[in-house]
Amino acid sequence: MKVLVIGGGNMGMTYAEAMAKSNFLSQDGLMIFDKDEAKRAVLRESGLFTVHDSLGTCLPNADVVLIAVKPIHAPALMEEMQPLLKDGQVFISIMAGVTIETIKQGLGAEKIVRAMPNLPALVGLGMTSFTASAEVSRLELAAVEGLLDTTGRSINLNTEKEIDASTGISGSGPAYIFYFMQALMDAASRMGFSKDEARLLVGQTFAGAVELFNSSDLSPEDWMDKVASKGGTTRAALDSMDDNNLNAHIQTAAYAAFRRAEALGQETLEKEGTHA
Ligand SMILES: NC(=O)c1ccc[n+]([C@@H]2O[C@H](COP(=O)([O-])OP(=O)(O)OC[C@H]3O[C@@H](n4cnc5c(N)ncnc54)[C@H](OP(=O)(O)O)[C@@H]3O)[C@@H](O)[C@H]2O)c1
Repeated sequence: MKVLVIGGGNMGMTYAEAMAKSNFLSQDGLMIFDKDEAKRAVLRESGLFTVHDSLGTCLPNADVVLIAVKPIHAPALMEEMQPLLKDGQVFISIMAGVTIETIKQGLGAEKIVRAMPNLPALVGLGMTSFTASAEVSRLELAAVEGLLDTTGRSINLNTEKEIDASTGISGSGPAYIFYFMQALMDAASRMGFSKDEARLLVGQTFAGAVELFNSSDLSPEDWMDKVASKGGTTRAALDSMDDNNLNAHIQTAAYAAFRRAEALGQETLEKEGTHA
């Protein structure tokens, strides 16, 4: 299998490096193209994949194409790609808000996978949700899953609505965790801890709690019950959160991201002059 990554920015580079290091592909199985010469020079230095100066030398040879450019660059890129495509190619797009229908029309191709990664892909702990057009076969989907899993874990969803919903949970989710971490660091600072001390206290607490959560089937509520005893310190904090409706506020925030993802998808469809 030959894979081409288009766009060697943050995400494209993350995927290309992860795929190259995973042994999922043979050494000459990975190609990358970026339109920027300076970026291509940096990509070449890694020595992990074949860097191409033009789409013409790589796109016709690829079985799977991962599109990792910003959504705003999608229309121009797809126009450039269209005359170079060959039958049977599978396209994975990680472009936020760009629908399968938009990509089908832009490329004139049928086998499209829309994926939503998240930032921890940078450290191999990404969570990618994806869905595919009906034309992608089971075998091709399995290969796609293998490629996406090189940056962490993935989940195959049935609809694009679920991709937008997962954007509100895992896509944008790391920022919610950082928000919570910042609030705890601010509290630590008010209590007199130095920045370094606050960072250690908060970072290790999150890492430990996540490790516990992932080490068993217990729910977060079960774990809360284990930590909090009646009349104790933790219960005082959890009661305060409940009194302030924090759970409902967090859910409202996740829904705000979900609705924004849906709206962005609609905007791209309207820009392309198509209707889902
Ligand atoms: N970062 C995240 O956490 C995250 C999460 C989910 C989804 N995504 C999606 O991932 C995609 C990539 O994001 P990113 O942060 O990696 O963007 P990025 O750093 O801007 O990388 C995109 C790269 O593609 C290049 N490019 C633009 N048009 C091109 C073309 N026609 N042919 C070849 N290369 C081209 C860009 O060059 P120039 O810089 O010269 O334009 C840039 O080097 C976006 O669509 C985003 O929605 C990102």
